[in-house]
Amino acid sequence: MNKNSLLSMRDLSVEDIYSILDDARLFNCSFKDWQLPMQKALVANLFFEASTRTHFSFESAQYQLGCQVADFAAGASSVTKGETLYDTVKTFESIGYDMVVIRHSQDEYFKELENINIPILNAGDGAGNHPTQCLLDLLTMQNEFGTLEGLNVVICGDILHSRVAASDKEALEKLGSTVRFAGPKEWERPGYPTIDFDEAVEWADVVMMLRIQKERGSGMAGMTDSEYLEKYGLTKERYARMKDKAIVMHPAPVNRGVEIDTDLVEAEKSRIFEQMHNGMLVRKAVIKRGFGFAPFKKEKEVCV
Ligand code: CP
Repeated sequence: MNKNSLLSMRDLSVEDIYSILDDARLFNCSFKDWQLPMQKALVANLFFEASTRTHFSFESAQYQLGCQVADFAAGASSVTKGETLYDTVKTFESIGYDMVVIRHSQDEYFKELENINIPILNAGDGAGNHPTQCLLDLLTMQNEFGTLEGLNVVICGDILHSRVAASDKEALEKLGSTVRFAGPKEWERPGYPTIDFDEAVEWADVVMMLRIQKERGSGMAGMTDSEYLEKYGLTKERYARMKDKAIVMHPAPVNRGVEIDTDLVEAEKSRIFEQMHNGMLVRKAVIKRGFGFAPFKKEKEVCV
């Protein structure tokens, strides 16, 4: 496995995380136009599972960095003839690609790819990991509060099937924040400490709502959309009880009127679309790192 791959937040030290966040911020100001210096940076985006934000923010980041980008559609590839994931990725390596970005429904699919030599950036594996979503969440929180230490974060919804919950827990605890989980009992995850959501909205600096992952077998626990919203969702009443400076986050896509009242998606405390912008910035940073470039020098920062 290439040492510049990013597969899980476990791969990153605290110092690595802060370097990526600093680079992402610099990509928004002093280094907006920075491009990879080599002539050829051929990247393939292998999405075996649906995506809008992750796929196209990776693609936006790649074009802005001067990469040549290939999009792969599993349904139009030799995967339909039974080719394995390993053989598919090895093929991209063999025909000259320099990096691959992979999303796959299988937890830790990357364990099969240890003999791949080009860097792999994980764009989400089953209910396992979503490191770039985690990094964009961290950037959003750090921009808001100036620190990632001592924050109270509640993550509410389908915790059991959520790779975002898993990656954010791993990183936020490592960085000194307190993370609690809320939602239906059947979606609790062993080792993930719970809190009553009605109590949590007054305790939290960050209220992060999650989508019900129907594609991973989550039902609605016998509830209608409005029953779910009333019991476990972010209603206007709960929003009104949040701390003055608290924010609402959601990895999206959002099921409006299920986990969050539709009027709150772009409410004052919501950072949902800012998260998406930050996603493009952190992906530029992890692509640069993936190609082996050291972090930018911070003294060049002239951000306002
Ligand atoms: N948050 C996220 O991963 O969104 P997509 O599934 O659209 O990439």
